[in-house]
Amino acid sequence: MNDDFIKMVEVSKIYKDGNTGLTAVDSASINIPQGSMIVITGPSGSGKSTLLYLIAGLMEPTHGEVFVNGKSIYKLRDSSISRLRKETIGFVFQAFNLIPSLSALENIIASRIMDQDKRQKKAFELLDEMGLTSHKDHLPSELSGGEQQRVAIARALINDPDIILADEPTGNLDSENGEIIIRILHELNSQGKTIIVATHNPELFMAEGVQKISILDGHIEIDAGANVYGRE
Ligand SMILES: Nc1ncnc2c1ncn2[C@@H]1O[C@H](COP(=O)(O)OP(=O)(O)OP(=O)(O)O)[C@@H](O)[C@H]1O
Ligand SMILES: [Mg+2]
Repeated sequence: MNDDFIKMVEVSKIYKDGNTGLTAVDSASINIPQGSMIVITGPSGSGKSTLLYLIAGLMEPTHGEVFVNGKSIYKLRDSSISRLRKETIGFVFQAFNLIPSLSALENIIASRIMDQDKRQKKAFELLDEMGLTSHKDHLPSELSGGEQQRVAIARALINDPDIILADEPTGNLDSENGEIIIRILHELNSQGKTIIVATHNPELFMAEGVQKISILDGHIEIDAGANVYGRE
């Protein structure tokens, strides 16, 4: 087990806002062991999505370094960082971000890398796991919110990533569909995947071993007793 699987060292993200800057994440230092399940919570605008983008390799920090599995990801060449994003990290976006013109099956397959022959098989397996086999040819506009969210999760899993980052994965769902997503995320964690979820409803995700991080105005606070640790 790698205790520093994901490591942020004094990471800040300052968005340019006219002449001034908006500090969305303020000097965050945190270590996340492999196989953890972490829930990030905080009010709207507190920096949850920004924190996930920074970990995902999607947004370069203004200051500080982000390490994934020992590599300082923003020091990698563009080709290496995009490989890391595809192979190691699955991202479930707040607004699904499915491609409207592609069917459920095609959306899942679209981000599959390598093994051209195997990808169809893997996509069918994921559709089955998500209970979507009968909807495989539906366009996103022909799917409910819960179904779209499950397609988005299947897409995040197509490359069998070690890390799954999910931004408000239940935010647009009713409680029944939300519970399905939560169960899927817990199952993935029990298979050894490192899961980080940003949510306004942390209580829905809490279970034995799940750890909570709160963020307020870009400052992160780790719950006492958590296995995740930060530094001042
Ligand atoms: N691209 C951007 N340019 C400028 N400011 C931004 C940008 N993205 C986010 N912000 C600002 O950064 C702060 C943090 O935003 P972020 O999206 O990380 O919050 P959040 O905690 O995910 O909120 P929510 O719960 O509403 O999704 C907010 O004040 C937001 O307005
Ligand atoms: Mg957000």
